Amino acid sequence: MGEVDPAFFQTLENQPKLETTEAEGIPIIDLSSLNSSNTDAALSSLVAEIGDACKKWGFFQVINLGVPLKCREKIELVARKFFALSKEEKRKIIKDEVKPLGYYDTEHTKNVRDWREVFDFTAINPTIVPASHEPEDKELKQLINQWPQYPPELREACEEYAAELEKQAYKLLELISMSLGLPKTRLNGFFKDNNSYIRLNHYPPCPAPDLVLGLGRHKDGGALTILAQDDVGGLEVKRKTDGEWTLVKPTPNSYIVNVGDIIQVWSNDKYESVEHRVIVNSDKERFSVPFFFCPEHSTWVEPLEELINIENPAKYKTYNWGKFYANRRRSAPVITLSEAIFA
Ligand code: SIN
Ligand code: FE2
Repeated sequence: MGEVDPAFFQTLENQPKLETTEAEGIPIIDLSSLNSSNTDAALSSLVAEIGDACKKWGFFQVINLGVPLKCREKIELVARKFFALSKEEKRKIIKDEVKPLGYYDTEHTKNVRDWREVFDFTAINPTIVPASHEPEDKELKQLINQWPQYPPELREACEEYAAELEKQAYKLLELISMSLGLPKTRLNGFFKDNNSYIRLNHYPPCPAPDLVLGLGRHKDGGALTILAQDDVGGLEVKRKTDGEWTLVKPTPNSYIVNVGDIIQVWSNDKYESVEHRVIVNSDKERFSVPFFFCPEHSTWVEPLEELINIENPAKYKTYNWGKFYANRRRSAPVITLSEAIFA
């Protein structure tokens, strides 16, 4: 274990307290009643639980989401095999300006380097994103996946997992829609040709876990994030009541769901996209797989008309998701929702 490059050091206010409290309060919601012959009462109580969690935490955990365990185990295994390769091998599919999806290990969040390495791919391939933030997006960029040669089974595992997660994400979207008092399928149309993507994260053991973060504090820009974390733990959520960082204790076979900026805007702040970050530790590596459920890049995002009125006017200007995404991708450390589009 050598010296840690100071580029990874967090400023004092962002350094993790390693004895953080566990977020007992983030509810674990069982979705099994959705698949059985559920009664109206069971559905209403599920919807109420989800609405409460979204308001209080912006986060909840689910069990029995419906993703086959084999499918999850397969992607977790290929992720381990991929990250165990040499840097040289992994860098054969490095992401760059021309190919914005692939492997990278030099990401900065709010100008401090993250202690992690990442492989990104789109859930739907290919997908198009505006190349510039200019009014006439002359060039459109194709986000094409770069698949590594090893492990050879990685591509299939990733594609199967993406298809599964996309399917199950609608369940969560519908429950959230109902929890906002909207018809079940009110939000589905935005996701017809959705531009969702998946990230494989690897957080290696770190000799300075008190100074460094695996991933600095941030909010998610998409609609919903559905995260599979392993049994090591490290995800911390900023508790809305007191601003304390609270650890999300791993629950076997669960998924952690959080509301992103788009749902914050659609709901006109009824639900907020909440800050979170990842701490690292000195002896264990950690893996996680978030699925970022995002609408089509052509989508114009604005508060839903059913959720605004004279007493509660729109808090956000309309913005184009694809342009926002392209801009955020280029300047990830600085762009936040409020800086970009707050009305
Ligand atoms: C993320 O916020 O995208 C990653 C969270 C994690 O690794 O737990
Ligand atoms: Fe995140």
